Amino acid sequence: MRSSHPKFRNIRAVVLIAALANVSSGLRAATPAEIEKKIDALIARMTIDEKLGQMSQRVFGDLTDKDKEEIRQGRWGSLYGGGTPAQKIEAQRIALKESRLGIPLIYAQDVIHGLSTTFPIPLGQAASWDPELVRQAARVAARETAATGIHWTFSPMMDIARDPRWGRIAEGFGEDPQLASRMAVAMVRGYQGDRLDAPDSIAACAKHYVGYGAAEAGRDYNTPWIPENLLRDVYLAPFQASREAGVASYMSAFNDLNAVPASANAFTLREVLRDEWKYDGLVVSDYTAIAELIPHGYAADGEQAALKGIRGGVEMEMVSTEYWDYGKKLVANKQLDPKLVDEAVRDILRIKFRLGLFDARGLATPAAAPPPTADALETARKLAAESLVLLKNENGVLPLAQSVGKIAVIGPLADSKIDQLGTWSAGPADTAVTPLAALRETLGANHVVYAPGLKNSRDEGHDGFAAAVEAVRGADAVLLFLGEDAGLSGEASSRAYLDLPGAQEALVTAVVQAGKPCIAVIMAGRPLTFHNVAGKVGAVLYAWHPGTMGGPAIADAILGKFAPSGRLPVTFPRTVGQVPIYYDHLNTGRPAAETGLAAEDKFRSKYLDVSFTPEYPFGFGLSYTTFAYGQPHVSAAQMRVGGSITVSAEVANTGHADADEIVQLYTRQLAASLSRPVREMRDFRRVHLKAGEKQTVEFTLKSSALAFHKGAQLVTEPGTFQVWIAPDSSAGTPGQFVLVP
Ligand code: NOJ
Repeated sequence: MRSSHPKFRNIRAVVLIAALANVSSGLRAATPAEIEKKIDALIARMTIDEKLGQMSQRVFGDLTDKDKEEIRQGRWGSLYGGGTPAQKIEAQRIALKESRLGIPLIYAQDVIHGLSTTFPIPLGQAASWDPELVRQAARVAARETAATGIHWTFSPMMDIARDPRWGRIAEGFGEDPQLASRMAVAMVRGYQGDRLDAPDSIAACAKHYVGYGAAEAGRDYNTPWIPENLLRDVYLAPFQASREAGVASYMSAFNDLNAVPASANAFTLREVLRDEWKYDGLVVSDYTAIAELIPHGYAADGEQAALKGIRGGVEMEMVSTEYWDYGKKLVANKQLDPKLVDEAVRDILRIKFRLGLFDARGLATPAAAPPPTADALETARKLAAESLVLLKNENGVLPLAQSVGKIAVIGPLADSKIDQLGTWSAGPADTAVTPLAALRETLGANHVVYAPGLKNSRDEGHDGFAAAVEAVRGADAVLLFLGEDAGLSGEASSRAYLDLPGAQEALVTAVVQAGKPCIAVIMAGRPLTFHNVAGKVGAVLYAWHPGTMGGPAIADAILGKFAPSGRLPVTFPRTVGQVPIYYDHLNTGRPAAETGLAAEDKFRSKYLDVSFTPEYPFGFGLSYTTFAYGQPHVSAAQMRVGGSITVSAEVANTGHADADEIVQLYTRQLAASLSRPVREMRDFRRVHLKAGEKQTVEFTLKSSALAFHKGAQLVTEPGTFQVWIAPDSSAGTPGQFVLVP
């Protein structure tokens, strides 16, 4: 069945590149010093055209005779997205065997949350709060991707995003630098494995560097304004953590950053990335971002764009051709320092050596994407299961007993394979298992009546309502699969309204009238606002776009095979008018009181028409059991700068189900030389507690974790700190300690 998909039709091209005389056997990986020597030797022989060719990346294309000739001439350093296995073999053969210097191409592709096996969208993966599982999923993705001859993925996206209007919030890890850093590092490690030159490893790409997620008004590609301390404490944090984890490449972002485009930004690309972080890998631009320096108003023409892009620190230009078109002239005119070109080429060649492309890997024969293995599907099912966030469960309506009787399955997302895969799904949809299929399989088809009510998530028509209402009448419980289709999130998919699209709310209103127990399962690429719907149903399970195995994971959760343990990686607003809303904000001089709506609250920081609090806070999620948290205990009343303390609390499973809990550690510095956020998450841990079991959960808190930036300077300031061990960012009573010099 799988081979009927075009991607799988071109089965195993069997062209063996047998004897490439200028390629070594690759039995022993070169040492870093040997690699540098080889790079020196190559650069010494390269013409300016060959250098600018290395700095150019294009979409793979059809591999026409013209394309082949260009590869032979060294016109391209990298091809991305597309190419059959046979074309990849042929293009690489030409590069290695027929180009003057035998420099291999590096093949790239956007493998964002899996290739053949689609995992939950990254925002859903972040909701698992399980970096080890995220690493395993990325390992699966690396194996599947490497088998197709791709060496490099444009992932992970680690843009901190605090605005659910922004469609690309789906592709990242949410609002918090600590959670996003842990997830980003896990994905990088998963892709790159123990060694970059292993046949099943691919190079990761930390993107989009930097500030892309802070687009004003949540409109894609729009400008962020980010002061340096916030940039460093929040937006750069996952990029820095990825640097420390050895990420092989960075992608410069589309956006302006404080009025200097990120793709020509010498401050972030040279000062921070190179000088401070000592990064020696490759920086690629985003798609045509160098040419876009012109509409940004930062370059007058292509020539200036090339000059500013290279000077700014972007080494490989994706798709636009300003480097190629003007680089030679700029060097000849002495406007562009040839050393900058050599540095860029050096970094590009280095990643090719590190990946082993000059050696065994260049000889590898790519195949079609392999079908998902049983293990891969199991990992996908587990990650989808852990990503589910239970937001409401009145009177324990969930879980349903296996003996529930008849279930009515309603809604546009109950049986849409392509939509449950979410944005950037790379693999074919046919292997996806929908909730409807999984429920039929588990309960027996005669226990499930299906009436979608709407054709798709945006459908405004009411034609299907009567059948849905009819289906509900004869049912013992109702499952409503609501949310957004895959095309409503991702790149260039910002929304100004965050409500359930189409006539979904009206469908819920029609269906709940029968008075049956109703459960809403929401699949979406972002936080949605669904206050009215939540008020009408007994339970809400937030499933994001859960990927290939979303259906079985959701069915298992609904039937109580496990207790949901996902937690929100991002704050959910009550209404779009509260946006941006995030937990680690600064206080005001007039913070609102608990209710926010009392008369005595008049001159306080609040709204007249809605509470100032979110609908659901960062870190929040319910379970099928309850957890009780004891007071946090600090090992010492004082911590020295440079030292550490431990903070612990007893966490008890006080209900009747075995379950995982995500225990979260937060601090607040009460006074410092810069105002400090009301809370900042420092650590978290997933613990499993049987019903009735309790455990003391202990965190080590180092003073370095309390540091913050004053401009470029990282400081740790003595003072009084509150500390929480809590189930979410708004819960708990704090303990206290003092940081002393
Ligand atoms: C544009 C997107 O912003 C980026 O994330 C992606 O990797 C490139 N296109 C390449 O497809």
